Amino acid sequence: MSSGRYAALTGWGMAVPQRIVTNAELAQKVDTSDEWIRTRTGIRERRVAGPDEPTSALAAAAGQAALVRAGLSAADIDMVIVTTCTPDRPFPATACAVQARLGMAHGSAFDLVAACSGFVYGMTVASGLVRSGVSRNLLLIGADIFTHLINWNDRNTCVLFGDGAGAVVLQATDAPLGLLSANLGSWGEGEDLMVAETGGTRQPATPELLASGSQFVTMNGREIFKHAVREMCNSAQRAVEEAGLTLDDIALVVPHQANVRIIEAVARRLELPMDRFVVNLDRYGNTSAASVPIALSEAAEQGRIPDGAYVLMTAFGGGLTWGSCVVRWGGSPK
Ligand code: UT7
Repeated sequence: MSSGRYAALTGWGMAVPQRIVTNAELAQKVDTSDEWIRTRTGIRERRVAGPDEPTSALAAAAGQAALVRAGLSAADIDMVIVTTCTPDRPFPATACAVQARLGMAHGSAFDLVAACSGFVYGMTVASGLVRSGVSRNLLLIGADIFTHLINWNDRNTCVLFGDGAGAVVLQATDAPLGLLSANLGSWGEGEDLMVAETGGTRQPATPELLASGSQFVTMNGREIFKHAVREMCNSAQRAVEEAGLTLDDIALVVPHQANVRIIEAVARRLELPMDRFVVNLDRYGNTSAASVPIALSEAAEQGRIPDGAYVLMTAFGGGLTWGSCVVRWGGSPK
């Protein structure tokens, strides 16, 4: 790959914890049922990380898989970006831990926080860094252990989320591949619609606050649902337009995997058939910043993305944040 005007996606990979938690298992702990979770969300099971599996471990495993796919080694990578809202530690960046786990003695590493929209934001930032020549071979990882922020006694949230990581390698190229357009948005007034109140500088953790469980995420699901459908559709349409394409040109949509009813509503509004959407939330739940790259990796592994295909990624999350981007697939080593 030469230095160039574009940033091709040359590798992809994912990693999820081994432990599977089924709906039936959750129904033993809180007042819910497999039937409610399946019909209201589409989720059947999710993966939950163990105590020895921090975010950096999943992120590094996904990153390593993406490197293998790209035919590169860690030594070839000059920048690592981890997008996460559940870092290993409050300080320093999880990306540095990933750099160490991958055995990279050089390059740069930093985290990017945009909740569940993190990977779409990350694609935009990472592609800009490659296209401007700051990086030539970049590893972008979306990783979250969102169950860390979950109160397992709160049925409003505990059934929705899972843990995982997904990664892509971006390489400089002169071929018109990779990111073609992006449309990002956020609405700070909506920050309380999905929030983990305690543990930051606004409300540092105390034994009393921790005992009250205010370090866990609370969410106004119904409000977020409405915003999600509207903003994912709007940003998707704008991104497709900015790429000089129409929705008919899009071979595959990789949406954030929060709720199959959100994805179905987006499909209806965009007038696209559901078979053009990747849906794997039945097996993983909402993995936050990992959901788009995990879905992308599975679709690529299944051969659902031919070279030259236009792929639309669209996501929504806490902040509130949202974004969509269009990429042209191809550039992987033959
Ligand atoms: O990653 C981005 C951030 N998050 C999202 O995208 C989430 C977006 N929102 C959603 O996916 C949906 O709003 C939920 C799945 C969270 C909730 O589904 P809903 O159809 O909007 O349900 P609701 O909040 O309107 O609640 C309906 C009922 C309520 O009971 P009442 O008040 O009608 O008696 C809830 O208490 O369902 C109840 N409920 C449950 N019942 C059984 C809520 N959670 C559960 C549960 N099991 N786990």
